[in-house]
Amino acid sequence: MKVIVTSDYEQLSQQAARAVYNHISKHHSLNLGLATGSTPLGLYKELIQLHHANRLPLADLKTFNLDEYVGLSPQSPYSYRYYMNTHVFEPLGIPLEQTYIPRGDVGHLQQECDRYDRLIQQHGGIDVQILGVGVNGHIGFNEPGTSFNQHTHVVQLAPSTIEANAKHFPSKDEVPTQAITMGIASIMQAKHIYLLASGEKKAKAIQELLSSDVVTEQWPVTVLREHPQVTVMIDESIAQSVQDKVGVMNDR
Ligand code: F6R
Repeated sequence: MKVIVTSDYEQLSQQAARAVYNHISKHHSLNLGLATGSTPLGLYKELIQLHHANRLPLADLKTFNLDEYVGLSPQSPYSYRYYMNTHVFEPLGIPLEQTYIPRGDVGHLQQECDRYDRLIQQHGGIDVQILGVGVNGHIGFNEPGTSFNQHTHVVQLAPSTIEANAKHFPSKDEVPTQAITMGIASIMQAKHIYLLASGEKKAKAIQELLSSDVVTEQWPVTVLREHPQVTVMIDESIAQSVQDKVGVMNDR
């Protein structure tokens, strides 16, 4: 596991964007796994700037998102499809038919989960996966206690996740209580994973990942210790609490 410490969120976003830019430049038909939420917004903004300065080859890129809220249509301004179209796909000019996100507004949710897993497999799997992390250590929407063996599935969102995401909705009552998420097993199949975390609220989850030797379903992020190709990008505010471990993990 490689740990990169940046001075602040802006630098973290720039370095993450540069890494994604380099992957796409080298491998035009990349299958890129993407996250939503606040953390990757800076990465996306920087990537758009890099693309405008020096055009990326996007004709063969495919993107696969981690998750979507159950009950929201793609047109809902609170859906992750809407977020991705607005913040990423339209500004970069990626044709929407090359972008995949589970549908949260279908009648048969389990069928949709299976369809999404097949889709990822049919395209040869995810090459590069971007992840954020929840305050409770979730990755995707795999809340604490989720089996590491699960592929795409429907989850009940934890109260802390609903609380954290309420800022994106008119009120907390409007945050969906369920989501479809790629499972830990799906995420672990990605060839290279970048985990981004910024701000003190994420320190505990990063401590569990870097400072504890335990891999536990109670802290889903700890599963990344078992992946051969992970880059963890954190800012100073988090690094202070795991300083003794940063050098050790870099050597592994
Ligand atoms: C989003 C996702 C979540 C977020 C996590 C952190 O697609 O899968 O795991 O990455 O909830 O969210 P932010 O970045 O808003 O703190």
